[in-house]
Amino acid sequence: MIWVKVLSKQELEREDFIETLKVDGKKICLVKNDGNYYATQHSCPHAGGVLSGGWCKNGNIVCPIHRYEYSLSTGRGAKGQGDYIDIYPTEIKEDGLYVGLKQSWIRKLFS
Ligand code: FES
Repeated sequence: MIWVKVLSKQELEREDFIETLKVDGKKICLVKNDGNYYATQHSCPHAGGVLSGGWCKNGNIVCPIHRYEYSLSTGRGAKGQGDYIDIYPTEIKEDGLYVGLKQSWIRKLFS
């Protein structure tokens, strides 16, 4: 796993948000909810909705298309959905926020 800086130290002061980020051409969904950071896969496994167009509710991210919900901590879908999303680890370091991604994702950055 490689840690990629996604927010500067100054950007850590922002209010809660949900947005799409590109890391080496791949999209992820970055969330700040109740002051905590989460990184998830970009699209909803149900039918491809863009998760960054959704909102947060009770620790879940809600897809804007059919309102399926996924835990921001575990990625697990709400009861009865039977699905999940990928969650990537986040860590605040001295100079900003980092997301841990599989090395194969960002091969180009370091080759
Ligand atoms: S596309 Fe996300 S809930 Fe259907």
